[in-house]
Amino acid sequence: AGPCDLYANGGTPCIAAHSTTRALYNSFSGALYQVKRGSDNTTTNISPLSAGGVANAGAQDTFCARTTCLISIIYDQSGRGNHLTQAPPGGFKGPEANGYDNLASAIGAPVTLNGQKAYGVFSPPGTGYRNNAVSGSAKGDQAEGMYAVLDGTHYNSGCCYDYGNAETNSLDTGNGHMEAIYFGDSTYWGSGTGSGPWLMADLENGLFTGRNPKNNPAPSISYRFFTTILKGGPNLWALRGGNAASGTLSTYFSGARPTPSGYNPMSKEGAIIFGIGGDNSVSAQGTFYEGVVTSGYPSDATENAVQANIVAAGYATASLTSGDSFTVGSSISLRATTSGYTDRYLAHTGATVNTQVVSSSSATSLKQQAMWTVRAGLANSGCVSFESRDQPGSFIRHYDFVLKVNANDGSKAFREDATFCPQAGLNGQGSSIRAWGYPTRWIRHFDNVGYVGSNGGVKTFDNARAFGDDVSFVVGSGFA
Ligand code: AHR
Ligand code: AHR
Repeated sequence: AGPCDLYANGGTPCIAAHSTTRALYNSFSGALYQVKRGSDNTTTNISPLSAGGVANAGAQDTFCARTTCLISIIYDQSGRGNHLTQAPPGGFKGPEANGYDNLASAIGAPVTLNGQKAYGVFSPPGTGYRNNAVSGSAKGDQAEGMYAVLDGTHYNSGCCYDYGNAETNSLDTGNGHMEAIYFGDSTYWGSGTGSGPWLMADLENGLFTGRNPKNNPAPSISYRFFTTILKGGPNLWALRGGNAASGTLSTYFSGARPTPSGYNPMSKEGAIIFGIGGDNSVSAQGTFYEGVVTSGYPSDATENAVQANIVAAGYATASLTSGDSFTVGSSISLRATTSGYTDRYLAHTGATVNTQVVSSSSATSLKQQAMWTVRAGLANSGCVSFESRDQPGSFIRHYDFVLKVNANDGSKAFREDATFCPQAGLNGQGSSIRAWGYPTRWIRHFDNVGYVGSNGGVKTFDNARAFGDDVSFVVGSGFA
């Protein structure tokens, strides 16, 4: 059985079931998600390899070969048509045209399920999906349940990495108008023990770990794969969680609604949000593999069976890189492959990252400005960081999507901005190097300046023309 078969058996059926990694019903063989590729803007649907099985990641890899792909739709498997699509602007605007949120890259969160490759949804800040016209969701004080399997190591303190019930007009309509899973280390509203991140309930104008609107004894989380559970009915709600790769669930809180006014009774509206706050706050980041929303208040026993099913799915990490190997400790150069620029190398002048013409007869100082020492990724050792050869302790990082060479200040934001995941070159040459924290964005030269650009988008350096060439670099061993 799949998770939604278990919820149905318990009398609390799924009204929405979302996953890019696997079918959540034993008999489901339809489309799990849609990807859209950058080369020609066409789309294809990705389905399970067999009914009830793991997503056909190979079909995605074939469709997206030598180009970029976005996850354009996450289909609802429940049969109700509660699909998730690019979120529109609300109280806050997203970064895309007309205030829409960004779509997620299709390759940001590779994993295996019992050895079979699949892709989760890696959402940087600015990314969001939504459905404001859901069929069958809880309204007012009606009971519902939900779970989501997340990456417990990918989070931030921005508002709000959520999955669940929210406003149907994308605006903050007041306390109690949301009931969604939140994951991150925001301390602006509630928090738990330690320094986070925590599972919290976003009930609108507050993230809650229990009855007290500020602090309750909820654990800080460090599971790589994290099962999160939230359920709520009339003056009763609960948060539960556990390691999605082994073991059982713990109940972090179960009891009466929070004490401030507006949360009892609830005023749920029934939209479904993913990766954003109820008012389209877009500052948060996180990674999702699968999740559902149910009708009715699921029993602990049903949820325990769902957890056993998730553990049996066998989530494990997969390689984040492909193509050339970048040997940690080695010294490299990165030569442009765009026609007319092939004598240029990724270099820096002070803090500015640019491309410069470098040859064996160049001055030693210029050669060293165009050489980089490969380090284990500062935010994720499955990827790499590039330390300046002539300014040890300084690394290539992006800031406002412009590349800089800055000293490592040790902050989480710096480490994330300085981590890059090389892939086989998008134009068939060398390597293309995506930003770890923004998988739609790749190291690119544009007017001879370095950026992390996306293949189409609102910024000048997101221009789709020559994108594959501008992001493909031949890796050399540097200059003698
Ligand atoms: O409740 C926290 C956040 O507050 C909600 O997600 C958002 O709608 C509001 O800004
Ligand atoms: O480069 C994009 C973002 O800009 C970085 O992640 C952040 O540090 C800055 O705000």
